[in-house]
Amino acid sequence: MKVRFLVNGEKKTFEVKPDEYLLDTLRNNNYKSVRRGCETSSCGICTVLMDGMPVASCSLLTAKAEGRHITTVEGIQEDAELLAGFFGREGADQCGYCNPSIALACYAMKRELKDPTDEEIKAYLVGNLCRCSGYSGQHRAIRAYLEVK
Ligand code: FES
Ligand code: FES
Repeated sequence: MKVRFLVNGEKKTFEVKPDEYLLDTLRNNNYKSVRRGCETSSCGICTVLMDGMPVASCSLLTAKAEGRHITTVEGIQEDAELLAGFFGREGADQCGYCNPSIALACYAMKRELKDPTDEEIKAYLVGNLCRCSGYSGQHRAIRAYLEVK
């Protein structure tokens, strides 16, 4: 079946199987920044934005993206670089496998929550796991990113 949607603002048409997940469609079409983790909606590594909201692409049928706006980290380069700078400054840089998904979730949070508390930040990111860190450096970096107007 054919499915049409926007990826990072570009109109795309994909030939997919009816039971194909968005993670596979994107990776099969060279959007390799969208990463594979648990494939059970638990780790958030496969996060993309659909109409600006974070979704687990491992659990979203590609057919459900018809007509929607999908954003990968390539679509938020400026913000991803800004956040990466804060990660470096706070010593939160590790293997980087989760970085695209965390950047997308933080980008969405920045637009959705106004002046979030530490607890609200943690609650927003509860579905985005990092296998490397203890999160406190990440949290400081994310707070600094959110404070940039
Ligand atoms: S790979 Fe999708 S939530 Fe873990
Ligand atoms: S930095 Fe390694 S998984 Fe997050």
